[in-house]
Amino acid sequence: MILITGAAGFIGSNFVLDWLAQSDEPVINLDDLTYAGNLENLAAVDGDSRHIFVKGSIGDFDLVAKLLAEHQPRAVVNFAAESHVDRSIHGPEDFIQTNIVGTFHLLEAVRAYWGGLESEAKSGFRFLHVSTDEVYGSLAKDDPAFTENHRYEPNSPYSASKAASDHLVRAYHHTYGLPVLTTNCSNNYGPFHFPEKLIPLVIHNALAGKPLPIYGDGQQIRDWLYVKDHCSAIRRVLEAGRVGEVYNIGGWNEKPNLDVVHTLCSILDDLSPRADGKPYVEQITYVTDRPGHDRRYAIDATKIERELGWKPAETFETGIRKTVQWYLDNQAWVANVTSGAYKNWVGKQYGDKNA
Ligand code: NAD
Ligand code: DAU
Repeated sequence: MILITGAAGFIGSNFVLDWLAQSDEPVINLDDLTYAGNLENLAAVDGDSRHIFVKGSIGDFDLVAKLLAEHQPRAVVNFAAESHVDRSIHGPEDFIQTNIVGTFHLLEAVRAYWGGLESEAKSGFRFLHVSTDEVYGSLAKDDPAFTENHRYEPNSPYSASKAASDHLVRAYHHTYGLPVLTTNCSNNYGPFHFPEKLIPLVIHNALAGKPLPIYGDGQQIRDWLYVKDHCSAIRRVLEAGRVGEVYNIGGWNEKPNLDVVHTLCSILDDLSPRADGKPYVEQITYVTDRPGHDRRYAIDATKIERELGWKPAETFETGIRKTVQWYLDNQAWVANVTSGAYKNWVGKQYGDKNA
């Protein structure tokens, strides 16, 4: 049994689906179902006794302690977080509460549980913290990619809150001996990606005939990884990672945002052409840049490949085509998440004309 937090979100739900496709080991999914949590992502395991869903917060010490005592998991994988940079700029409070205070309470509950385990269970236990490359800050064009030894230089409230949580996890290992693992991954894309993030937002807006918003000059670089490859890397780190170590995860796929949007447009031109025959690139619109926008992220994934033999299975070209096809095949999912609170967000971020 493993406890997974935040597994109704984008990466966590992909992780649960892949885990249960490959293993009969049950999972408890603790998720507070914020705007980003969606049980529809897990419809394929609805009624499956190997998936136990519990609605609640990682910040609820008593609830986490109760779940740990009841289910005796051999590991905790912590995905739960506020994850959207733009939202952290509009309102950092939730990021501080969940990513820092919540992780602290989770660590406290796990430390108490782990401290009471018998020696074999205690030495085999793992706490895997899922983090991001954004904690390392921004790279100039010709800088080498981030290694695990890069100094922490977070630039947004989101990345600062993730950096703080990484430091807490590290401290719980050094101070209390908690057997932790930390992964820092680059930008993910794939099924169940909430359409506030660049790739699903562009697919959704393109099909809806809306503007495709490019922040600033669109030359910011991100290092894209297909979500299923992130999940396989986490499984591998959980299985064989060295306790106390950090592993960077990335796809060696650096792309300027504008190139990503052009690629999406041309795949859509091919798979779902506009009714008027015009190309989707005509919908590209330049909008005000994100404050403090990091220019470039790039992950050096040498360590995880060398030590654990992990490599991504998808190239950007194969992964992005699968992703566009998934969104075309799952328009009902998109329609369900683009209602209600999400619409209010779009109005706030881009102005009501684009909402
Ligand atoms: P997401 O926003 O799609 O999902 C987050 C999930 O956490 C949601 O289901 C939400 O309901 C849940 N949650 C929020 N607050 C909670 C709380 N207090 N208690 C319990 N559950 C709570 O995020 P994602 O993109 O799936 O990211 C998952 C993790 O991976 C995050 O920690 C993020 O920092 C990290 N990460 C994301 C990316 C990426 O490209 N998306 C890349 C690297 C790392
Ligand atoms: O690098 C890992 C991080 O990737 C994760 O830690 C975050 O949780 C995840 O949200 C993602 O952060 P980004 O800020 O890089 O992702 P986002 O999809 O929001 O933006 C990707 C790039 O596209 C970024 O340079 C901003 C730009 N962008 C984004 C949106 C939403 C636009 O130009 N227009 C947009 O409308």
